[in-house]
Amino acid sequence: MIKPKLFYILVLIFVVCIITTLYQMQIIRLRDKIVTLESKGPKASDRDWKTDEDNLVVLYNRVPKTGSTSFVGVAYDLCKRNKFHVLHVNITANNHILSLTNQLKFISNVTNWNAMKPALYHGHFAFPRFQQTFDDCVAKQLPDCDPNNMKPGNKWALTEAKKNLINNYFLVGVTEELEDFISVLEQTLPRVFRGATEHYVSSNRSHLRQTVQKDMPSEETVRKIKDSLIWQMENELYEFTLEHFHFQKKYTLKK
Ligand SMILES: *[C@@H]1O[C@H](CO)[C@@H](O)[C@H](O)[C@H]1NC(C)=O
Ligand SMILES: *[C@@H]1O[C@H](CO)[C@@H](O)[C@H](O)[C@H]1NC(C)=O
Ligand SMILES: *[C@@H]1O[C@H](CO)[C@@H](O)[C@H](O)[C@H]1NC(C)=O
Repeated sequence: MIKPKLFYILVLIFVVCIITTLYQMQIIRLRDKIVTLESKGPKASDRDWKTDEDNLVVLYNRVPKTGSTSFVGVAYDLCKRNKFHVLHVNITANNHILSLTNQLKFISNVTNWNAMKPALYHGHFAFPRFQQTFDDCVAKQLPDCDPNNMKPGNKWALTEAKKNLINNYFLVGVTEELEDFISVLEQTLPRVFRGATEHYVSSNRSHLRQTVQKDMPSEETVRKIKDSLIWQMENELYEFTLEHFHFQKKYTLKK
């Protein structure tokens, strides 16, 4: 006859054994799951990557007089060959600004309109505070563009514009380096821009731009403009854009 104390000890050992076994079974089961997940891993991500590419939506924010017509022209030339859609978003009526309601409608439409994907949407979208171009501002003789009447808020606006450029845009190029801009896009978004550089260089899209010579302003006008704070700030933003673009170009087009 087993003594009660020993009996309890045996029961305890038995219970511990059962618990340990159960844990080990759990661990083995989990390990199997991990192995299954690992073996599925690369295949699953391959599939996602392909769908991602075909779901690509590019939003090109046009800025007047920066070669955007040439750029969009290249997209229209390529869309048949590369099998994507080009859509024009016309919001000129609302001064290039969408109300919150319309922003949501637009996002929902673009996101769910699968028949159009992959797509390039182009239009002139504005961040509400920055919709006016320098020309507009001067033409309307608004106080912010009067060199003698500068509001301190402009320094803030410049910082905001830099933040927007870094945080809200995939890529911002400069007109003088439109070919490089297209090359960076071709390298990073080949689904839409495959062959774009070669097409841009060999078609008359690149030549058209160079032959359109705008009248140069007089030296006096240039001096006056360069003296104004607004020009200095626009120029600072330009230099900032250029530096950032060169940085991205260097690391993207690295052979
Ligand atoms: C955009 O819309 C405005 C007004 O709604 C119209 O006058 C203009 O012709 C349109 N532009 C294009 C390119 O469709
Ligand atoms: C998006 O808007 C266009 C034009 O208004 C419309 O024809 C299309 O059906 C809309 N697509 C979706 C998914 O809402
Ligand atoms: C540019 O080339 C296209 C064909 O690629 C041609 O149809 C068009 O007329 C040309 N435009 C000019 C201004 O030469």
